[in-house]
Amino acid sequence: MKYILSLDQGTTSSRAIVYDQNCKAVAVAQQEFTQHFPQSGWVEHDANEIWDSVVKTSREAIKKAGIEAKDIAGLGITNQRETVVLWDRKTGEPVARAIVWQDRRTSDYMSALREAGKEPLIQQKSGLLLDSYFSASKLHWLLRQVPNGHARADAGELAAGTIDSWLIYKLTGGKTHVTDVTNACRTMLMNIRTGEWDPELMQLFAVNPSLLPKILPSSGLFGVCDASLYGHEIPITGVAGDQQAALFGQLCAKPGLVKCTYGTGCFMLQFTGTDPMASHNRLLTTVAWKIGDGPLEYALEGSVFVGGAAIQWLRDGLKIIRTAPEVNELAEQVADTGGVYLVPAFTGLGAPYWDSTARGALLGITRGTTAAHLARATLEGIAFEVTDLLSAMEKDSGRKITTLRVDGGASASNLLMQMQADSIGVKVERPKNVETTALGAAMMAGLGCKLWKDVDELNAIREVDRLFTPMTDARQRKARLSTWRKAVKRARGWET
Ligand code: G3P
Repeated sequence: MKYILSLDQGTTSSRAIVYDQNCKAVAVAQQEFTQHFPQSGWVEHDANEIWDSVVKTSREAIKKAGIEAKDIAGLGITNQRETVVLWDRKTGEPVARAIVWQDRRTSDYMSALREAGKEPLIQQKSGLLLDSYFSASKLHWLLRQVPNGHARADAGELAAGTIDSWLIYKLTGGKTHVTDVTNACRTMLMNIRTGEWDPELMQLFAVNPSLLPKILPSSGLFGVCDASLYGHEIPITGVAGDQQAALFGQLCAKPGLVKCTYGTGCFMLQFTGTDPMASHNRLLTTVAWKIGDGPLEYALEGSVFVGGAAIQWLRDGLKIIRTAPEVNELAEQVADTGGVYLVPAFTGLGAPYWDSTARGALLGITRGTTAAHLARATLEGIAFEVTDLLSAMEKDSGRKITTLRVDGGASASNLLMQMQADSIGVKVERPKNVETTALGAAMMAGLGCKLWKDVDELNAIREVDRLFTPMTDARQRKARLSTWRKAVKRARGWET
């Protein structure tokens, strides 16, 4: 039996999973790491702490699986996207903390670019909308803050990359500075049609080309892990940003198939094949993957920043539940929200609104409102956010979505999934394995090292856990959605 080691480096924790040849997870290890919030709206990670957590969890998973490194045919990496690391090529040490995708410190800079009329150019080239979410403005900021940043970059002393690139660099003992096309396309520096760094975008953000890694397909050879790490060399054969990896893990490899991952935020992607479909509804055009010598393939993406994080707020902020799953028991105590709506715009609104001035709103409270109504309104708020994404996607692609494939931690909630089906009027399909992110990276690595032949072989081992069918009619859905949109309007323009 041969195995794949999948490293899932997320925003709050690092996980390592060992998969066998049948895509079954045989061992898992996980470790959280420190979140740094030096100022309001700023979020940073220590890249060395991330690296340590990856080494620890990967060694632990190999040990738990009872295998040796030589039994591992390939290693896959999937990661929090957009987060940017800047390091010294000679010492291999980061020169500053990594700036995380959630960090809003460059919002003003991005607004200035918008006012200067740069959005159409950026959208046409990168497929992205002008927002501080993406790596380019974060790297621009870092290069100005680090002493002699630009001069050191010009002298070739510094290297930059997203988390995948940093991990590959460390895993290969500093030998390889590369990234994959799904991560590169989230930097705002890559041209999505060519799959290459774009000179005009690099110039716009004053990013020296020598800083950037080489862009490779998502499946194929990236480099080889230094033998000192696991006692034997392991080839790195699959890399993808976590949302694209989840899309692959859900095997949404036929144009029109859609998945939504319910994590801290919610990320919906629709595979569009070789067509980089431009969005007219404020969604992103993103690279889905490039498998070996195959063509670049694309997806439309809609992301909301607060999904499962709203449940964490009930737990840690309001303290009305002790654990996240308790939200279901509490919400089930009432049959409906009693007219309460929660708009979870705690850090502004993502797609399709992209409004950083919005803030969370709780509307429709009466003397009869209880914690149970609030819990239910929170789950419904998440479902409504996802409904807005789905509507935008249907408008952009011009095709009716018939099934939504779901995954991620909060997809385990039957109540939330039923609310989701009721709100979108479309079937919601949950696979047996909701850890599709790590699975997707494992699949890419397995194709990259020829453990599996093609997607058809993988489709044969995909298993569905449950299908949620809508229990509402069109009239009910329209009425609820129109009140939700009224609530969204109230939440907007709050922070000026
Ligand atoms: O774009 C950000 C996304 O990749 C982060 O995902 O799962 O680490 O919150 P996650």
